[in-house]
Amino acid sequence: MDRVTYSLFLACLFLWTSSSVVRSEDPYWYFTWNVTYGIASPLGVPQQVILINGQFPGPNINSTSNNNIVINVFNSLDEPLLFHWSGVQQRKNSWQDGVAGTNCPIQPGANFTYKFQVKDQIGSYFYYPSLGLHRAAGGFGGLRINSRPLIPVPYADPEDDYTVLIGDWYTKSHTTLKKFLDTGRSLGRPEGVLINGQNAKGDGSDKPLFEMKPGKTYKYRICNVGLKDTLNLRIQDHLLNLVELEGSHTVQNAYDSIDVHVGMCLTVLVTANKKPRDYYMIASTRFSSALTTGKGIIRYSNGKGPASPDIPVAPIGWAWSLNQFRSFKWNLTASAARPNPQGSYHYGQINITRTIKLVNSASRSNGKLRYGLNGVSHVDTDTPIKLAEYFGIPDKVFKYNSISDNPTGAATTLTVQPNVLTVTYRNYVEIILENHEKSIQSYHLCGYNFFAVAIEPGTWTPDKRKSYNLLDAVSRNTIQVFPKSWAAIMLTFDNAGVWNLRSEMAENRYLGQQLYISVLNSERSIRDEFNMPPNCLLCGAVKDLPPPQQYA
Ligand SMILES: *[C@@H]1O[C@H](CO)[C@@H](O)[C@H](O)[C@H]1NC(C)=O
Ligand SMILES: *[C@@H]1O[C@H](CO)[C@@H](O)[C@H](O)[C@H]1NC(C)=O
Ligand SMILES: *[C@@H]1O[C@H](CO)[C@@H](O)[C@H](O)[C@H]1NC(C)=O
Ligand SMILES: *[C@@H]1O[C@H](CO)[C@@H](O)[C@H](O)[C@H]1NC(C)=O
Ligand SMILES: *[C@@H]1O[C@H](CO)[C@@H](O)[C@H](O)[C@H]1NC(C)=O
Repeated sequence: MDRVTYSLFLACLFLWTSSSVVRSEDPYWYFTWNVTYGIASPLGVPQQVILINGQFPGPNINSTSNNNIVINVFNSLDEPLLFHWSGVQQRKNSWQDGVAGTNCPIQPGANFTYKFQVKDQIGSYFYYPSLGLHRAAGGFGGLRINSRPLIPVPYADPEDDYTVLIGDWYTKSHTTLKKFLDTGRSLGRPEGVLINGQNAKGDGSDKPLFEMKPGKTYKYRICNVGLKDTLNLRIQDHLLNLVELEGSHTVQNAYDSIDVHVGMCLTVLVTANKKPRDYYMIASTRFSSALTTGKGIIRYSNGKGPASPDIPVAPIGWAWSLNQFRSFKWNLTASAARPNPQGSYHYGQINITRTIKLVNSASRSNGKLRYGLNGVSHVDTDTPIKLAEYFGIPDKVFKYNSISDNPTGAATTLTVQPNVLTVTYRNYVEIILENHEKSIQSYHLCGYNFFAVAIEPGTWTPDKRKSYNLLDAVSRNTIQVFPKSWAAIMLTFDNAGVWNLRSEMAENRYLGQQLYISVLNSERSIRDEFNMPPNCLLCGAVKDLPPPQQYA
C-alpha cells in the first residue's frame, strides 16, 4: 500500500472500530495504588525505597491492545509525585503522560486518577515515578500490552510470560543523589545491578526468580529501568530469541546476549532445552570503567543442582553493540496491533519535511554541571507546558523555539531555560541525535514510535542519508547514541499534544538534557486531541484560571 491508500485504510479501520465501540466498549482495568516509602536491602544494606501497595518493584500492569487503564494513585510520600507510562503512546492524550511538562504533580497526601487507553499498541513497557530522582528508589514496574486474540502473533504461545526489570542501583537515597546533582557533583558509580529488585548472593540461599519446565518456551519481557548504565543481559547456556522491541515484532534472531540501553525494552523467547539444573541470568554494566554485575536464578522444574559459578563474560567495546543494533530488523510480514502487515507502512518513501539536529553537550559554569541540547539546558516550569499552552498563557511561562534546527557543533555554554519546540501536526520529520561526548547516550521520545534508521560513528552530514535503513528499521521509542556518533530517526508527528524528548541517563535528564515538542491541535478539535480531563490537577499560573473553552 502507498501512503494515501494506507491512510484511507486507517480511516476505514477507524470508522469500523469507532462504530464497534457502540456495540461493546473496550474493557477497563481498575487499580488503586498507595505509594509509600519503605525499607529494603537489595544489596544487603537497608535503604529507603518507594513501594506501590507495599511492593518493590511495583505490580505489573497486564493489558491487551485498546484496553482502558484506570489507576488511582494515592501519594503517601512526603514529596510531589507523578507516574510516567514509558512507551504508552497516549494517542490524543498527553494529559496522562505524567511528566513535569504535562501534569501538575500529585501533592503529598493527595490522589490523582490516571485514565488512558493502550490504543493500537502491543509490547513490553514499564512505568516509573518521573520526578526528581524517584526512579533511583524504585516505584517502577512492568507494563504489558498483549495482542488481541484475533490478531496472529508470529510465534507460538509461550508456556508463561515473565517480566525482567534490570537496572544499575545505588544504595544512597534518591534525595541524597538529587542533592549531589544540585550541588554540582555527579552520581558516581552505582553500587550494584538488580534484577527485579534483587541480586543473587550465589551462596545456595537464593530463591529462583523464574522457573521453567523442561522443553517449554518462555517469554521474558526485559526493560532497563536503571539510571546510567547499558546492561548486557544473558542466561548461562541459553539463547535469547528476540521477538519484539518496543511494540514491533522483529525478525527473530537468536543472541548469546543482548545490550539493553537505559530506558529500552525488548522481549525474548527462551527454551528450556538444557541439562535440568539452575542457571544464572546475568545483567552486567557495559562501557563503564568498573564492571558491576547482577544475577538471578532460573530454575528448571525438574532441576537437580545449583547454577555453575562460571559466569559467561559480556562482550567488550561498543562496536559489538552497534553491530547488534544493525541486526535488529522489523518483520515486514508480521501484524502488530492491527491485522495489516507492519511492512505496509512504507516509511522510507515519505518525503522529509523537516530535519532537526540535536547535539548534546555539557557545561560547568559557576561550578555547576548542566547538560543541554543545542545550547539550552531545560528547566521544568511551575506551570506545566501543556497547561500553559491549553490555557493560552504560554508567554507567561516559556518561549517557543529558542534553539536552532541546525546547530554548528556542540555548544560550550548553555542557557538554562525551558526548551520547547513546535512541530507542525502530521509533518514527517527526521531527527538527528549527535553525540560529541565520550559517554553513551540513550534517548526516549514520548507519544510516538519512530523508525531508528541509522546509528553511525562520526558526525552527520546530509549525504549520510545514503546509509539509512529505509526498508526494515525497527519502529521503537528509545535509541542509543554511541560516543562520538550520531543516530537518525524518522516519524510522522500525528499525535497532537506536548511530548517529552529526553536523555534517559538520569543525571543528564535531571540536569537539563531534555526538551518538549508541542504538536499543536490548531483547530482545537476532539478529532485530534482529547479535552482536558475533568479531574486534571491545576497549579502554577493556571491554578485559579477559568477553564478555557473545550475542544469541540
Ligand atoms: C497508605 O499506606 C499507609 C502505610 O501503610 C497508610 O498509613 C495509609 O493510610 C495508606 N493510604 C491509603 C490511601 O490507603
Ligand atoms: C494477562 O492478560 C492476558 C490477556 O488479556 C491473559 O491471557 C493473561 O492470563 C493475563 N495474565 C495475568 C498474569 O493476569
Ligand atoms: C481520589 O480518590 C477518590 C476515591 O477515593 C476519587 O473519587 C477521586 O476522583 C480521586 N481524585 C482524583 C483527582 O482523581
Ligand atoms: C515474520 O512474521 C511471520 C508472521 O507473519 C512469521 O511467519 C515469520 O516467521 C516471521 N519471520 C521471522 C524471520 O521472524
Ligand atoms: C517527494 O518529493 C519528490 C521530489 O521533490 C517528488 O517528486 C515526489 O512527488 C514527492 N512524493 C510525495 C509522496 O509527495
